[in-house]
Amino acid sequence: MSKLPIMIDTDPGIDDAAALAIALFHPDLDVKLITTVAGNVSIEKTTANALKLIEMFGKDVPIARGCEHPLVYDLDDGSEVHGITGMDGWVFPEPDYSRLMKEHAVIAMRDLLMESPEEITLVAIGPLTNVGMLFRLFPEVKAKINEIVLMGGSVTRGNKTPTGEFNIYSDPEAAHIVFTSGLPIRMVGLDVGWKSFVDGKHMDMLPEINKVCEMLEATFRHYRSNQFEKGIVNMYDSDAIAALVKPEMFKWVNTHLDVELEGKYGRGQTVCDLDERYGKAHNVTVAVDVSTKVFQDWFIESLKNCNI
Ligand code: BDR
Ligand code: CA
Repeated sequence: MSKLPIMIDTDPGIDDAAALAIALFHPDLDVKLITTVAGNVSIEKTTANALKLIEMFGKDVPIARGCEHPLVYDLDDGSEVHGITGMDGWVFPEPDYSRLMKEHAVIAMRDLLMESPEEITLVAIGPLTNVGMLFRLFPEVKAKINEIVLMGGSVTRGNKTPTGEFNIYSDPEAAHIVFTSGLPIRMVGLDVGWKSFVDGKHMDMLPEINKVCEMLEATFRHYRSNQFEKGIVNMYDSDAIAALVKPEMFKWVNTHLDVELEGKYGRGQTVCDLDERYGKAHNVTVAVDVSTKVFQDWFIESLKNCNI
């Protein structure tokens, strides 16, 4: 079977690091480009973190630095959750900036897509600023995108606010551009992310598996110590990779989704009517459930590929 060509837009962030590790070592995936965006921490830090990960993983995938600010409003980053660097708790190799592309992420995405002989799947695991900007500046790229698979939004409640999930709340205008792009989109939201957790037993297994797993266990222990105590560590962004390679672990529903752009309480909410008989034309396929057991087994098995 030929590998699925993908590009990943990310804001590492430690659950981004787990998703990147799984994707970069997965035998069925060909990661053509990694682009960074401001989100969990600043663009300087997400870019440095992506470079550190590539260095540690020994992978030669191009990395391009993306947008520093959301399209309209200022970023309220996630450093209160992800720590000062976004990947505290492990001593990484220094980032090698000679590996960083000179082009802005949006230009790098455009060039990759327009020069590619085949369609590419766009995986987004951070705020959608780069992708929104890409579609506004270069709408011609849409013809070269097979599908967008993203972690973000929620059909229940949010985490940044009661209604807003972090990735969508951070740049609702960009998310609106993406959800109205007309492209096939699969979304795995926060509510399903809460069921995609790794328990204490699995976390304890990680350091024995390989160096990458040891790093992930250490950084998760640092970053989600409160979750560790409860034995539930959510791996939100890995859901987007699972959706690519093992979609059958999720229950999917086709629906129409709008992003709330206004509102004192509702800004950034992903509003969808899950009753397929109602609503406007479907513009997204949303995961509404996942098998936690299948996710956990898949997560551990996938990380066994990360041999460095
Ligand atoms: C999302 O927000 C970030 O903090 C995580 O990296 C994930 O992409 C979960 O709401
Ligand atoms: Ca993320």
